[in-house]
Amino acid sequence: MACCHYYAVTEDGEDTFTVNANTITFGKDCLREAGDLARSLGIGRIALFTDRQLAATPHVAAVKRSLADAGIDVALYDEVRIEPTDISFKAATDFAREGNFEGFISVGGGSVIDTTKAANLYSTHPADFLTYVNAPIGGGQQPPGPLKPHIACPTTSGTGSECTGIAVFDLLEMKAKTGIVSNCLRPSLALVDPSCTHTMPRNVIAASVFDVLSHALESYTARPFTMRPAPKRPSARPAGQGANPWSDLGCREALNILGKYLVRAITDDTDTEAREQLMWAATLAGIAFGNSGVHVPHGMSYSVAGLVRNFYPDGYPKDAPICPHGMSVIVNAPAVFRLTAPACADRHLAAARWLGSETRGASDGDAGEVLSERLIDLMKATDMPNGIGGVGYGAADIVPLTDGAFPQQRLLHNAPLEISKETLSGLFEGAMSYW
Ligand SMILES: [Fe+2]
Repeated sequence: MACCHYYAVTEDGEDTFTVNANTITFGKDCLREAGDLARSLGIGRIALFTDRQLAATPHVAAVKRSLADAGIDVALYDEVRIEPTDISFKAATDFAREGNFEGFISVGGGSVIDTTKAANLYSTHPADFLTYVNAPIGGGQQPPGPLKPHIACPTTSGTGSECTGIAVFDLLEMKAKTGIVSNCLRPSLALVDPSCTHTMPRNVIAASVFDVLSHALESYTARPFTMRPAPKRPSARPAGQGANPWSDLGCREALNILGKYLVRAITDDTDTEAREQLMWAATLAGIAFGNSGVHVPHGMSYSVAGLVRNFYPDGYPKDAPICPHGMSVIVNAPAVFRLTAPACADRHLAAARWLGSETRGASDGDAGEVLSERLIDLMKATDMPNGIGGVGYGAADIVPLTDGAFPQQRLLHNAPLEISKETLSGLFEGAMSYW
């Protein structure tokens, strides 16, 4: 791609990228297409995965009705845990194995879709649990073949899990958040109904939308795919290839949409137009980062979410402290983009412009500050926590936060510049508060 200096070919570097994409159906009330689509995939008996809260919603009812109308035998699994663990993945796998299903359908947020991916994987290709888990925690092996068909129906405008080959979970014995990454895990079909966002509580939509925003920003500013060594076999090219021209397309449009609608969708829960637009942005960002990978804000988020002690945001269960995924990501983002801007200043400036910043007259040296200030404005306008201090961390937490995030090498390595342990520690210090 000599046409773009960001993708200049490097010695021994990759000169090829792959577009991995599933079939996506997007539109109001499209959940009623589930039955016909499942039939078209040859499924006569299906497992429907969701969580307890969602099981009683009209979204699950619409999917069940559609499957029943198509004559499909449905078994419901509503035990999905929000913020899944290795234990909850194994329980879901037991259900999948015992039911001997021909396919899967997931209705919910990222936790539900990720759990369905894991249950499909381990019931189709049984193995010791750590076999497919990311190295160095697990063996990092690729599944030996395709999985069973999976139709993913997201009910939040956030994780983009319906478009990616990633399943994230907490490995309890190691107190570590990690994941399984393989193109085999990408759902066969995504059914994206934007009206699912109409009833999301303010704080829940805020957290999920900032996740989308960071997916697009991290994907767009990731290390270029040409900087990665070429794989020994083409089929070993990783899902997280680094920034690439295909992912750039989705990032650009997602950031444009977010610049126009993010604040409206969060601050006015009657603004269904804005909320539906954000569902499309979430889908675009999911397609993008599913092919490029994310980097440091997500790497840092694993310890921000994992070590949280006294934070109980509105709209979430109060039985345990929780830092929702999107919040745990965005509190790091301004500090990270200040650091990464010199590596690709034009990309940071373009992203700030799409998000609504005035960038005329800004030089490359201003890029980090301009983008960070725009993020901080958006965070303030939507009552996001003021950095990691806003979710309860102090100076004494920098070491454990750094120790917790540094093993996320897959993500840190996807940054456009080298992230040492000292750099990471400095980023947590810089993320303590912004205003
Ligand atoms: Fe995310």
